[in-house]
Amino acid sequence: MSDGEGCCFDDWARHDARRARRRDGPDRVTGALVDALAEVGLRDRSLLEVGCGVGELTLACLDRGADRATGTDLSREAVDQARRLAEERGRAGRARFVVADGSVAPLEQHDVVVLNRVICCFPDAAALVDHTAAAARTTYGVVLPRSEGLAGLVARVAIGTGNLVFRLRRRRFGDYRAFVHDVAALERRLAAVGLRRVRHRRVRLVWHLAVYERDG
Ligand SMILES: C[S@@+](CC[C@H](N)C(=O)[O-])C[C@H]1O[C@@H](n2cnc3c(N)ncnc32)[C@H](O)[C@@H]1O
Repeated sequence: MSDGEGCCFDDWARHDARRARRRDGPDRVTGALVDALAEVGLRDRSLLEVGCGVGELTLACLDRGADRATGTDLSREAVDQARRLAEERGRAGRARFVVADGSVAPLEQHDVVVLNRVICCFPDAAALVDHTAAAARTTYGVVLPRSEGLAGLVARVAIGTGNLVFRLRRRRFGDYRAFVHDVAALERRLAAVGLRRVRHRRVRLVWHLAVYERDG
């Protein structure tokens, strides 16, 4: 599937790639997740990023010592842009980008699996989390909107407003909707498969950033 059922991911990828070329390093949320992963351990490890967009986190993790990386995304344009950025940054030999739906495509085992602002773009969070967590040999990292308390309310209002705009501009955005999934319920699913939270941060009020490690 390209472009997430004909919505907007391809357009966003072109925009994100332009921004990535202008900027020196990843945005604040992505940078915070890279830091948290590096604290837990990236050096000489393999990384799978599901919903990699144009690959900024993947490439930053290679810069921070990851040995090799795979990025997957629903959007063909995002994957093309990620490959181009990897070439431009001299990382193409260690990074592979493929078009795939991370909730169902067969995923090779990697030491570290990461989903940065992806779960909120996908309706079936449980399927996406269960399937991707199974590919994590030791470490799993996520950023998704907070769902509890005042921050959860702010996230719901922001995402609800965005969804209204998507609905009004259906010709451009198709059926795309974003979601505030229940973070605690997703963390219970991770705990049930032995992934224990070892890092946790709030970024820009609404983002829940967390890294989990396998027990034992
Ligand atoms: C908001 S963008 C985030 C991109 C990047 N991770 C970042 O933080 O800059 C969400 C991305 O997730 C991808 N995506 C959504 N659902 C997906 C799925 N089930 N499998 C793979 N990619 C998915 C979209 O195509 C899009 O590129």
